[in-house]
Amino acid sequence: MQLQSLLVLLGATALMATPILDDAPLFEEDTVDGGKIQWFGAPTVTKLARASCSAIGDVNPVCDSDNAADSDTCWKFIGTLQADANANVYNDQGYRRACYQVDGRKCCTQWNKDIPNLQKKDLIPGMTRMAQMCNEGGISGKLNNVNIRGVCVNQCLNDNHSCK
Ligand SMILES: *[C@@H]1O[C@H](CO)[C@@H](O)[C@H](O)[C@H]1NC(C)=O
Repeated sequence: MQLQSLLVLLGATALMATPILDDAPLFEEDTVDGGKIQWFGAPTVTKLARASCSAIGDVNPVCDSDNAADSDTCWKFIGTLQADANANVYNDQGYRRACYQVDGRKCCTQWNKDIPNLQKKDLIPGMTRMAQMCNEGGISGKLNNVNIRGVCVNQCLNDNHSCK
């Protein structure tokens, strides 16, 4: 086999092994401050590579003019996580998306790999950075390859778009 087609084949295999975030089932729903947080994810086990990525404070988010979430709702979401900061996100079971809904509006954060021992507070720095830096008529942003508890992930904040 030619090297090139071998590489294409390897690439395709890697793609197939990537979990499809958008199909993740709802695992849990919490009611907080009159709003609702939903956690999505399928039980998966991911081999962890050694972290080679930057601290959240050193990465500028890529902002998106589409898929914007309501700014107040995102800040409320951050507040609810802060109020329950040490709670476990059961990320060992693959929760990778959380949405906060209140008054018919929603704000969601997503991350693209399992993060062992993830706690609610670990989601806050990235969410805060995107809420501050990607807020042109709503919040929609993505942090590429940031370190959360030693795992290199992409984290997003938006109206429930995917975060691959
Ligand atoms: C977010 O997206 C997931 C996957 O498409 C879907 O199952 C869920 O209902 C959505 N949640 C909200 C609050 O839009």
